[in-house]
Amino acid sequence: MNILKDNFGRKFPYIRLSISDVCNFKCGYCLPDGYRIDKSDNRKFISKEEISRLAKALSELGVSKIRLTGGEPTIRKDFIDIIKDIKKNSGIKKTVITTNGYKLNKIAKDIKNSGLDGINISIDSLNSNTFKQITGHDRLDEILDGIKELQKLNFKDIKINAVLIKGVNDTEKDFKEWSNFIKQNEIDFRYIELMQTGDNLEYFKKFHISADKFIEFLNKEKWIIQTFGKDAGPSKNFIKPGFKGKFGVIAPYSKDFCKSCNRLRITAKGDLRLCLFGNTGISIRHLMQKDEQLEELKDLILKQLNYKKESHYLEIGETGLNKNLSTIGG
Ligand code: 5AD
Ligand code: SF4
Repeated sequence: MNILKDNFGRKFPYIRLSISDVCNFKCGYCLPDGYRIDKSDNRKFISKEEISRLAKALSELGVSKIRLTGGEPTIRKDFIDIIKDIKKNSGIKKTVITTNGYKLNKIAKDIKNSGLDGINISIDSLNSNTFKQITGHDRLDEILDGIKELQKLNFKDIKINAVLIKGVNDTEKDFKEWSNFIKQNEIDFRYIELMQTGDNLEYFKKFHISADKFIEFLNKEKWIIQTFGKDAGPSKNFIKPGFKGKFGVIAPYSKDFCKSCNRLRITAKGDLRLCLFGNTGISIRHLMQKDEQLEELKDLILKQLNYKKESHYLEIGETGLNKNLSTIGG
């Protein structure tokens, strides 16, 4: 089988697919003024049928995991049907989503029944005021209720991500709150270092802080670093006896971060992106129109991988095509 490989020996068993740019939150680092339609681009979001063909092609290229992201993927009315279709027809082993969790309490049952294999929920703080300050919404309790619903339904593989924001959610108190949380819950919690995007330079300058601060806390509290498996992504994980969940750190500015890159991205309008911060991205959507195009679609994706670069150039402020992460889902 022809599988996805680049010129630096990296394999790509993992795809992140955005299914909608729309988001109802206003996270300061992403969409501080809320979602606005991009008037320069009137293409619609890829349809369930297009996604279905794409997922099949990817599966035949050795992709074993697909993550549906947004914007906010659960805003789409056919979101559960999309999951069910991928689970039933594509051959992809694991289908997971990233969500801001805003209606998790209402859709927990549907999610469980859809066969979804995992869920990442973005929660930047366990403090309601801080949460509101960051996202523009006072919905922390609903999101935490949604998590409880999922746990009641025995849904496995729940992760929480938070962006580390200087002076906002980076104190020992914040770290301890999360420790208490994962002590009792079988949930992995990860801090992501704030990344610079095309739109957020001012915010970035003001609020970026290295994840070292959190790692120092983990060392002090005797968390043990886990060695990675072959297909582990860029997250460094830490475990500690007596804790049901794990801690993790995603530090895109750290040395060698890109070496473990195992993912490609596809935008909600059907552009293939080789790197979150890259300047290349071509549309592959014209080959998602008919079942007979499967081989052609596979070929195009394979060829594009020759253009994947060894690393991003974030250190020199090159943020690439993305104005913010809502079009590409982090
Ligand atoms: N830097 C780091 N993480 C970000 N996210 C969105 N924008 C940024 C950024 N500029 C995160 C979200 C979510 C995930 C999809 O990406 O908070 O956890
Ligand atoms: Fe929405 Fe996610 Fe961006 Fe927040 S980070 S505004 S939840 S897309």
